[in-house]
Amino acid sequence: MKRTKIIDLLASQPGGEVCAKGWVRSHRGSKNVDFIALNDGSTIRNIQVVADPTKFDEELLKLITTGACLSVEGQLVESVGSGQAVEIQATKIEVLGTCGADYPMQKKGQTFEYMRQHAHMRLRTNTFGAVMRIRHNMAMAIHTYFHDHGFFYFHTPLITASDCEGAGNMFQVTTKNLYDLQKDENGQISYDDDFFGEQTALTVSGQLEGELGATALGAIYTFGPTFRAENSNTPRHLAEFWMIEPEVAFLDQEELMDLEEDFIKYCVRWALDHCQDDLEFLNKMIDKTLIERLQGVLKETFVRLTYTEGINILQEAIKNGRKFEFPCNWGDDLASEHERYLVEEHFKKPVIMTDYPRAFKSFYMKQNTPVDANNPEGASVGYRGSVAPGPTMQGTDVLFPAIGEIIGGSVREEDYNKLMGEIDRRQMDKTHLWWYVDTRRWGSCPHAGFGLGFERLILFVTGMQNIRDVIPFPRTPKSAAF
Ligand code: 4AD
Ligand code: MG
Repeated sequence: MKRTKIIDLLASQPGGEVCAKGWVRSHRGSKNVDFIALNDGSTIRNIQVVADPTKFDEELLKLITTGACLSVEGQLVESVGSGQAVEIQATKIEVLGTCGADYPMQKKGQTFEYMRQHAHMRLRTNTFGAVMRIRHNMAMAIHTYFHDHGFFYFHTPLITASDCEGAGNMFQVTTKNLYDLQKDENGQISYDDDFFGEQTALTVSGQLEGELGATALGAIYTFGPTFRAENSNTPRHLAEFWMIEPEVAFLDQEELMDLEEDFIKYCVRWALDHCQDDLEFLNKMIDKTLIERLQGVLKETFVRLTYTEGINILQEAIKNGRKFEFPCNWGDDLASEHERYLVEEHFKKPVIMTDYPRAFKSFYMKQNTPVDANNPEGASVGYRGSVAPGPTMQGTDVLFPAIGEIIGGSVREEDYNKLMGEIDRRQMDKTHLWWYVDTRRWGSCPHAGFGLGFERLILFVTGMQNIRDVIPFPRTPKSAAF
């Protein structure tokens, strides 16, 4: 008999023979009746299987333990119990896979720490099922948004010979025999005989190649894995995470912020529209304010403020007695405590922060105009004419409550001389960037883009606390199991 998914059975009218297959969530037996809650992953909801114990072999019923895999045939009938409209009155039960008492997801209420150690089985729990279905839905939202807005899905390489962010925290890719590494008289390794004939690594971002796509196709987006070998053991960092990077020609800073805000709201709305059951479950079990917070974001207009204005607010707070662990004078990179103060305490809504000091932003960002053209190291003018005490760049990051930075973006420097000046000023190795700067030599155009950390979006949408719990198999320092 053909199997029907539980999500479809639950939406069916009673009547007729059906077959369901799935894993046992619970089995309660008594003298007169057995109740089995069966789940097949198609929905958070279980179908209730009702079995008359006198009609089934006692040994078979004993094998129906939590985690076992069953095939059930029977009549789909109206359910008298609360919680479901229909249930299966079983006529035939087959145990496809038994499950012993050592099944690690046997007990309810295990810690997330424990479940991470059993990541191969945690997917079968209600929480991880909900998170993974939402993750899938967010991927669909993203592709749909960009497709409907005329962006082309553009595939950038994962293996690269350039370091996009200039951060140097990359995983090297080599076929060299590490047990027999030859070095020259200066202690240097030659890559001439390595697979690509030069030193290569896993990419930290598809942006630079994305810009090549945008300056030809007009608007592109990437959606793929990204790798960072930074030793950040935090609930917000992964060594392998997924990033979405749209890049658009002829977009200015104001329009970039519009795109960031519209895009995030679209994703959140999609979750509310498509993931109702899973969100209700997470709202009940993980975070009682989740749905309210998601609805709240749709109503808010994100605050747009410059880094300089942000520093002024933080300084004012310090004057009024607010204590921070890290300093926040103009020129300091904001720590997460500062971002959270602005978003969660001061404004109580998402903030798009712009016009950051050049010192801690990437070389490719558009430089704001110095107030005194003869003194490029002095004050500069940025968003809506705001004046900063030093040189700034048109970065536009989105900061979210409970998450911190969810999007990092910027307008790109399209002026060849300014871009080259910045590369020189940072003493960057130009040999690997020749193709990138060529975009500024031939038909250069204003353009902008951003990167959304996919898992940070999933954190926000699910209310989960740790980024390791929103990706099936997390990669973090000292952890690459599964
Ligand atoms: O701010 P980032 O480093 O920006 C870029 O990579 C640019 N090339 C993007 C662009 O303009 N096209 O990273 C973008 C986002 C961050 O805002 C954050 O959400 C996420 O990627 N992210 C991480 N997520 C998980 N683990 C990490 N280690 C992350 N590092 C960045
Ligand atoms: Mg960033």
